Amino acid sequence: MLKFDYHNVQASIIGAENGLEVEKEFEDYKDCIAKIIDELYANKDERNAWKKWMNLGYDEDTLWYINEFAAEVKDKYENMLVLGIGGSSLGGKAISHAILNPYWNSLSQEQRKGFPRVFFIDNIDPDTINGLLNIIDLRKTLINVITKSGSTAEIMAIYMIIKDKMKKECDDNYRESIVVTTDRNVGVLRQLAQQEGYKAFEVPDDVGGRFSVFSSVGLLPFAVLGIDIKELLRGVRDADKLAQNRNIYENVAAQNALIHYLLDTKKGKNLTVMMPYSSRLKYLSDWFAQLWAESLGKEYNLSGEKVNIGPTPVKALGVTDQHSQLQLYNEGPNNKIINFVRVEKFDTTLNIPDIFQYTGLSYLSGKTVNELINAEADATRVTLTDYKKPNVTITIPQVNEYYLGQLMYTFMMQTAITGALYNIDTFNQPGVEQAKNYTYALMGRVGYEESARILKEKMEV
Ligand code: PA5
Repeated sequence: MLKFDYHNVQASIIGAENGLEVEKEFEDYKDCIAKIIDELYANKDERNAWKKWMNLGYDEDTLWYINEFAAEVKDKYENMLVLGIGGSSLGGKAISHAILNPYWNSLSQEQRKGFPRVFFIDNIDPDTINGLLNIIDLRKTLINVITKSGSTAEIMAIYMIIKDKMKKECDDNYRESIVVTTDRNVGVLRQLAQQEGYKAFEVPDDVGGRFSVFSSVGLLPFAVLGIDIKELLRGVRDADKLAQNRNIYENVAAQNALIHYLLDTKKGKNLTVMMPYSSRLKYLSDWFAQLWAESLGKEYNLSGEKVNIGPTPVKALGVTDQHSQLQLYNEGPNNKIINFVRVEKFDTTLNIPDIFQYTGLSYLSGKTVNELINAEADATRVTLTDYKKPNVTITIPQVNEYYLGQLMYTFMMQTAITGALYNIDTFNQPGVEQAKNYTYALMGRVGYEESARILKEKMEV
């Protein structure tokens, strides 16, 4: 199981100004946490509670349908294009980047064992999209269009470009190469899927984008790429069992939620740095940033009071950012909590050759890169602590499907518990919707005429 070390947030280690009396806080909050956990689980199946992500680890039917689809398309495609943005892309990117060979797209079809190369399109930079479309053969490409709302402008625009190109360049069966993942009932994409006869998978009801990675949103591309989704969901279920524990002393998600909440509200640490020590976990920070920011950044609390709260996530990567951001973390303002994610055992042991023994490099000779990365993680953790900067460490035994399922589900639960501590609606995102609506208005979407008029007035000022 994953391990959690909160030693370096304790007042006895980093001082009372910056640290917490953790054991006392656990004791003071133990009933409050138990109540939050009871409430989270009590109404998780209610319509509009937006908590059905808590059921995803147990969805055997979806697992079966997706594995069946993956078997159908195996060996048929050279590429898979995943079109999605925000919650419809970040989890997919995080897990596929972590699990697949780091240079997956450069491997031959044989080395990939018949699984396709993968490209995520999650932005609408015209040059990047054009660049990609110029190098892939759409006749050998599976397209997975993912959008819960079925109408997000960026994704619909790219879909339209690709569909048009496929119609012109591919044979009449091109529609078989488009598979959509969207809401069961609503949205333009659902209508189009029916009209065009695309294979369609559901984003389940009451699962928001940033909590959807373990639904068809993530599972479909993972299965097509040969990632073991059964193992992923086993990790999710095991993390869920731990998360259900009402006892804060045994619940990592609750412990880290309370630590972050108290460090923000009592000690002014309102920046959350996510810093995995593994390049394979680079996009975990991007996924976490959305989860944390969209869930916890809110204008009003549940009592209707204007609060404008939320910790700001910061993405970092060990060891790379030791040579970039660490100076600021150590010597800059003491307004952050650093979350290290460490890997106990890398798949590879990379030996540093035993050469140059009698030079200034002798300290490296005969060691391993594994030792070096872990020494650097330790050195950074200790230095931060010397500077009285709170930091926690989560350690996973290995980077694989099972532990990623555990880790990411634990972060989701941590976010849900933190939101409850702030007394906010963790599962809405009115700030994102507002910008989406303005975009529709500016682009002339029917029904948005009044917003367009107001916007134009504002933009002219
Ligand atoms: O978390 C969210 O709700 C958002 O980030 C969405 O995932 C993002 O805006 C994409 O929305 P959709 O899946 O409807 O295209």
